[in-house]
Amino acid sequence: MGKELHIDWASLGFKYMKTDLRYVSVWKDGQWDDGRLVEDNKLCISEASTVLHYGQSCFEGLKAYRTKAGKIQLFRPDMNAKRMQDSCRRILMPEVALEKFIDACVQVVKANEVYVPPYGTGATLYLRPFLFGTGDTVGVAPAPEYIFSVFCLPVGAYFKGGLSPVNFTVSDYDRAAPFGTGAAKVGGNYAGSLMPHTLAVQRGFADCIYLDPATHTKIEEVGAANFFGITKDGKFVTPKSPSILPSVTKISLLQLAKETLGMETEERDVFIDRLDEFAEAGACGTAAVITPIGGIEYKGKLHVFHSETEVGPVTKKLYETLTGIQFGDIEAPQGWMVEVE
Ligand code: PLP
Ligand code: COI
Repeated sequence: MGKELHIDWASLGFKYMKTDLRYVSVWKDGQWDDGRLVEDNKLCISEASTVLHYGQSCFEGLKAYRTKAGKIQLFRPDMNAKRMQDSCRRILMPEVALEKFIDACVQVVKANEVYVPPYGTGATLYLRPFLFGTGDTVGVAPAPEYIFSVFCLPVGAYFKGGLSPVNFTVSDYDRAAPFGTGAAKVGGNYAGSLMPHTLAVQRGFADCIYLDPATHTKIEEVGAANFFGITKDGKFVTPKSPSILPSVTKISLLQLAKETLGMETEERDVFIDRLDEFAEAGACGTAAVITPIGGIEYKGKLHVFHSETEVGPVTKKLYETLTGIQFGDIEAPQGWMVEVE
């Protein structure tokens, strides 16, 4: 008989849960080993590992979805694989081949199949691939050894409320420098975000919005998600900047808005003092999915978009289209969904 879980799928938030097996592969003497699934969720590494001192680490986030027919599928894992390669190049870590990355994700989902939430609960299986420097190094230099690992856990909404709007406040702090590591998904970016995030949450906001580090006039990120706005004449607009994370969700929404919903789309500057150009706004990301932005606080004033309590019609349509594809109810563009056999 299969393992029985007592999980209330519909009320899951975004909290760690140990699942049965995780994938671990080690890079040593210039190459990756074959990798294997292990039960232990503890890693044992040298005290002189670069990840501990110099933040030589990166990670990814992607999800597995259960379809109505009971199948399991991953959303665009190749995009996460490529972005992890970009992150590795930026901080001098060895890249993982695309096939190895996807195979590791598939192995982890299969090995933890009982944790893939049932269709219709709104919950998904979140996969967390990560890669970091280990071994004995004390000077500031790339590590001699690396670990690539993937674990998974069932999750619900990242921002409280799911498809109900939440408010954000603009941070005075920066998450990235103009020519820094903002476009890479490296650990250090997130260490720097902990304090601004906590200050925002303490003041009752879901998270903070970061402005561009050079001029502090343009929106960059919404916490750990990208920003989009729907202009009053129905265009899908999202910020363009070399220091924001290229969100897989944002890239997908740009395509869906244009090709499926027939909207005009623009990647361009979004000025914080021009928020009145938008009828609706939202945060998008793997964890955030699409979270409607009720209002943004800037210089002591809350700018409300569509409503603080109701999701706007275009945001709702985008949400239905994106999640419809992810859960297999709507046909996906070629190559987007990868079935876990
Ligand atoms: N921006 C930041 C800083 C993030 O951490 C994330 C999460 O991955 C995103 C945006 C959204 O990216 P994606 O849609 O690829 O999950
Ligand atoms: C994701 O959406 O996968 C993220 O990485 C957000 C997060 C840091 C929880």
